[in-house]
This record gives sequence, structure tokens and C-alpha cells, in this order.
Amino acid sequence: KPTVVSGIRPTGYLHLGNYFGAVQNFLKMQDDFNCYFFIADIHSLTTHPTPENLQSGVRQVLAEYLACGIDPEKSTIFIQSDVPEVSELYALLNMNAYLGELERTTSFKDKARQNPDNVNAGLLTYPVLMAADIIIHKAHFVPVGKDQEQNLEMARKFAKRFNRMYKCDVFPIPRPYTFGGGDMIKVPGLDGSGKMGKSEGNAINLYEDPKSIRKKVMRAVTDAGPTEMNQEKPEVIQNLFTLMDIVSTPDTVAHFDELYNKCEIRYGDMKKQLAEDIIAYTAPIRERIIDILKDDAYLAKVAKLGADKARESAVQTLQEVKDVIGFKKLF
Ligand code: TYM
Repeated sequence: KPTVVSGIRPTGYLHLGNYFGAVQNFLKMQDDFNCYFFIADIHSLTTHPTPENLQSGVRQVLAEYLACGIDPEKSTIFIQSDVPEVSELYALLNMNAYLGELERTTSFKDKARQNPDNVNAGLLTYPVLMAADIIIHKAHFVPVGKDQEQNLEMARKFAKRFNRMYKCDVFPIPRPYTFGGGDMIKVPGLDGSGKMGKSEGNAINLYEDPKSIRKKVMRAVTDAGPTEMNQEKPEVIQNLFTLMDIVSTPDTVAHFDELYNKCEIRYGDMKKQLAEDIIAYTAPIRERIIDILKDDAYLAKVAKLGADKARESAVQTLQEVKDVIGFKKLF
């Protein structure tokens, strides 16, 4: 079976972007791939969470992974910091990662611009740690959303560079994965911004209660409505349709599309429908999250099982890496 690796930072509740950009693909891959799904707690340190927030964030994502249907019997579910070999590989890969290429990364530039007082080295070398996450298990595929495309490109570069430098083929070159071979997904926000995200403050969480989902969807930005038949949709309206495409049936989407094209659409109706369709999707997941969060012993068991399995694979790769680098035992 080909190997798959992907992770999510424990910086808050999982939202529809995480679910449809990443987790949904995880679920589809569990049977046919050797899967490693983890919680990227080290990555989340770039924004300096308190120990309490870090801990509750990890617990939440672990429960959410399970509630979404990731099966610890099929997939290896683990916490990044439980596998110290990742940090060791990160240190080694840093020697072949160059300041110029790291500084040019879009996500680094964005974060440095958004928060100029916290441009730390962890932020700069974020793609190196991410590469270590991926290649330490010799991943072939990485299911991620569109926003991670460039980070993944860097991981490919670091893997190739290592193989070339040491004239070896320790690392397969990882590729992005989307189910059915389609484009990488970008779930839009409801505030007219391009992307749904935690830091964008426009996210609808899986854990969100129905009342709050309705409120958020009803507040979504729209315009005065189409003035001509078959008019092209402006971005804010397209975003609503994109979300509907994701959660609603094709018939529902076609219905509102037709109304739009005939200039008869009432956005209030469309939003009501969208909210109900989101709730139908998230409500059962929310129930399961609540249940699983009550069972600390189960969460601990899953994390331990995953850590053991992930370490086994990581230790092996790291040994190969050390051998080709030339760390020979002298005594
Ligand atoms: P993170 O925690 O920001 O997001 C987790 C996953 O959710 C996807 N995602 C989206 N997809 C579509 N539309 C959206 N609006 C949207 N928002 C988030 C992300 O693309 C991602 O797949 N650097 C990673 C975590 C990471 C990782 C890795 C991923 C660390 N090491 C190794 C894969 C492999 C991150 O910050 O994701």
C-alpha cells in the first residue's frame, strides 16, 4: 500500500475548510493506503499558545479526528511531539534549506506581514518541519487543501535535494492528493474573503451548534442581486454557491442556480437552505465529538497506540538518514 501523511494544527476547532479540504480525503484513503494522520502541535507553537490552550487544542483535534470517522485500527493517528525523531530529522534537513527560498514562501511572507512583531525562526523554517513530518514516513501522497500547495512543493524539493546530495533514494517524492484526481480544494469564507480559516475569523466549525451556524450563514455577505439574465456571479455570490456545492445536493444547487439566472433569487432563502444543509452534515459529527471528549481513557489509548506505530516507522527512516549522512558509530 502507498503511504499517506497529513496533519492539522491544534489551533482551534476544525472548520468546514479543514473538513472538506483535508479530513474528507483522509476518510476515503483509510482502506487503500497506509495512513498517518497527526496533530501538528509543534507547528502550532509559532503563535505561542499557553500550555493549557495547547493541551486542550490537541485533545479537541484528536476527538474531532475520531468523530469524523478516522479509525485508529486502520490509520495511525498520533501527536507530532510524541515522535521526537521528527524534530531530529527537521534539524538535519535545516542544513540544506536556504534562507532565500524560505523567505520567499508565500505563507511566511503573509504571516510576517500580519504579525511583524513575531517573525520567529520557527515560522521561517515551518516548511522544513512539515517536510520532516511527511518524508519521515516515506509518504507518497499528502492530502491537503489548496493553501498548503506551496509548503508541499517545498517538501518535494527538500526530499529531492537530500536524495541528490547523498546519491541515495531514501525518500520517495511526495505528491499532493485529491480524491478522483481533481483540483486541490479551497473552501471559501462567508465574509466575501477567499478562504475559510481560523485566523480569518470567518470559519464555521464542525463543533458549532445549529443556532450559531444559522446566525453565521444568515450574516454572509451578498450583493443587491443580479440585474440581467445569466449574469456572471461576483465572487461573494460564487462563494455561497461553492459552499452549497460542497454540502447540498446537486438538485438544490441547480434550483438556486436557475433562480439566479432568471434574476429571481432571494439570497435569504438560499442562505436558509445552506444553513440547514450544513447542519445536516455537522450535527452528527458534533454529537460524536461531545461523546468522545468525555472519554479521556479512550483518547489516551488512541494517542499511545498511534505514537508507538508512528515511532516505529520514524526510527527506521531516521536510521537510514543517519547512515547515508555518515554518522558512523566510532565506539
Ligand atoms: P492547517 O492546520 O492550517 O489546516 C489543516 C488542513 O485543512 C486544510 N484547509 C483548507 N482546505 C480547503 N479550504 C480551506 N479554507 C482550508 N483551510 C484549511 C489545509 O490545507 C490542511 O490540509 N501546515 C499544515 C499542517 C501540517 C501538515 C504537515 C499537513 C504540518 N505538517 C504535513 C500535511 C503534511 C497546516 O497548517 O494546516
